[in-house]
Amino acid sequence: MLDSSSRSGSTRSGLSGRATLEEPRDASPHGVGTSTAPRRKQPRGGTRKAVNRLVEDDLIRRVSFDEYRDKVRNVYAGPKGALLATCSLLSLHSPMGERLFRKRKFSLDGAKRILDVGSGAGQIVKHLLKYAPCDARIVGIDLSPEMLRRARQRLRSDRPEFYSADLTHLPFADATFDCVTCGYVLEHLPDPRMGFRELYRVMTPGARMLLLTTEDSFGGAWTSRLFCCRTYNREELRGMTHECGLVWHRELWFSSVHRLLRAGGICVELVKPA
Ligand SMILES: C[S@@+](CC[C@H](N)C(=O)[O-])C[C@H]1O[C@@H](n2cnc3c(N)ncnc32)[C@H](O)[C@@H]1O
Repeated sequence: MLDSSSRSGSTRSGLSGRATLEEPRDASPHGVGTSTAPRRKQPRGGTRKAVNRLVEDDLIRRVSFDEYRDKVRNVYAGPKGALLATCSLLSLHSPMGERLFRKRKFSLDGAKRILDVGSGAGQIVKHLLKYAPCDARIVGIDLSPEMLRRARQRLRSDRPEFYSADLTHLPFADATFDCVTCGYVLEHLPDPRMGFRELYRVMTPGARMLLLTTEDSFGGAWTSRLFCCRTYNREELRGMTHECGLVWHRELWFSSVHRLLRAGGICVELVKPA
């Protein structure tokens, strides 16, 4: 399955230089004002978005991708990485994530080769071990060898194969996986298309992906500050998935309360067309 680095090998070096910077976030729906145009009120929520941007960490936009990745490795190698599994439990992300599989909101039925991207402490792999078909091969990758060590230690299972690798340079052949899970990793890329294109490449036609990522909400801004990541505007992200050939199949919510409050971040099933 692997096309290069060994199972226990070190992370391959990835893109160098400065990554593409994103478009400005929230272009006014009213367009750019001119001196002759009547003054328009700020769109509703404008103040909130401005506050979010003040809170949000902007390292990812200020340094090269190589520098940024070193920072990410350091963050996860340290105490934040050690506490990641506990944080996922306390923030309810882990139990809510499990619910998605248990209730078959994201079904693993028929999956034969599953890739978990950015496995961290193995939070999603733990659900895969519980809900994936017994004969499914489960592969996890992470930029941080230290997080993989923690995942192995926590899961105490020989079944998942873990590799140290970068989402933007996956060490797998084209069309390897019929199912992908990608939880809270995409926010560590300056441009999500770098990840989507690579995931598209390793997905088989018809493969499905569960994508969870941080939204540009107040809670998301604090997550960004804590883990030095970025956040995504839902509609912009949707446009970028399409640009990379992936279909935004359906939005998922942890619960009806999350749906009502539009809380819990972006959770979506993406499909590579058959
Ligand atoms: C917040 S944790 C997510 C853990 C788990 N997937 C979950 O759903 O809770 C993010 C993980 O992504 C990893 N990561 C960040 N950038 C990455 C990249 N470019 N390629 C692979 N993994 C990356 C980090 O090392 C970290 O372990």
